[in-house]
Amino acid sequence: MKHLLSLEKLPGADIEKILRDAVVYKRERARRDKQPLAGQVWVLMFSKSSTRTRVSFEVGVRELGGQTMFLNANEIQLGRGEPVKDTARVLGRMIDGAVIRTFTQADVEEFAEFSGVPTINALTDDEHPCQILADIMTFREQRGPIAGKVVTFVGDGACNVARSWMFAAGKLGFELRIAAPKKFQPPADVVKRAGGRITCMDDLPAAAKGADLLYTDVWVSMGKETESAERQKALNGYQINQKLLKLAKPDALVMHCLPAYRGKEIDAETFEANANTIFAQAENRLHVQKAVLNWVVS
Ligand code: CP
Ligand code: NVA
Repeated sequence: MKHLLSLEKLPGADIEKILRDAVVYKRERARRDKQPLAGQVWVLMFSKSSTRTRVSFEVGVRELGGQTMFLNANEIQLGRGEPVKDTARVLGRMIDGAVIRTFTQADVEEFAEFSGVPTINALTDDEHPCQILADIMTFREQRGPIAGKVVTFVGDGACNVARSWMFAAGKLGFELRIAAPKKFQPPADVVKRAGGRITCMDDLPAAAKGADLLYTDVWVSMGKETESAERQKALNGYQINQKLLKLAKPDALVMHCLPAYRGKEIDAETFEANANTIFAQAENRLHVQKAVLNWVVS
């Protein structure tokens, strides 16, 4: 039984296979001749808001021949305290696979263990593996291999998206610089676990110098709303803008996982100038997740 629970646990060879297959799914989207989910019902169980992830999985499952059922986690008994492992044992007897967006990483892992069906992490507080797979696919499309390149993550370096980038760096051989105030840098044990070439710094210009990719995410991740004022204050200035971009390589890409807050983590001008790349990332969620779905069931 295969699951995609994190990039930390996903071997580099499987990442490569998923990325290769995603290119084929994108190129041959109109054919719809590959139907590995024919006759299957997949549940999307989300405890947090979503636009891209929800729509790309709903479309992706259907394009692969399956059907979807969306469950707002707060509207099922889980939201009233039914344990994850009981929910998993119920759903696992009825469905063929699950895509889960929640808070605690342990909950996705517990669901996978007790449901007995392929389970995909659609974002937890710890990781957002599908996003980073789509981002790397986008980088490769626009600039070729990512190995040996310099990726600079700007902003909340301790968030789920930054963390999945860290595990990708260790496996795919690129340099990752995290530019964040000390309080929002990733914990040392996670940096160590990721391996690879990762540097954390609060010197934003130094982190951007010569970068091939500048990447950012929201300052206030879902679930951190009570820290909003503190985060706005601490992260103020950790913004991708025209001035910062000048320090990167002349052909540097700018990416954002979205949703974007203009004037906070990115300025409006830089966002619009790089919209082509940013919305390609969003589109590639569909293609890469079809490859993930095919990978977990094969
Ligand atoms: N980037 C991303 O996962 O977007 P959603 O929260 O809209 O799914
Ligand atoms: N770090 C963000 C990603 C949103 C797609 C969050 O968790 O809210």
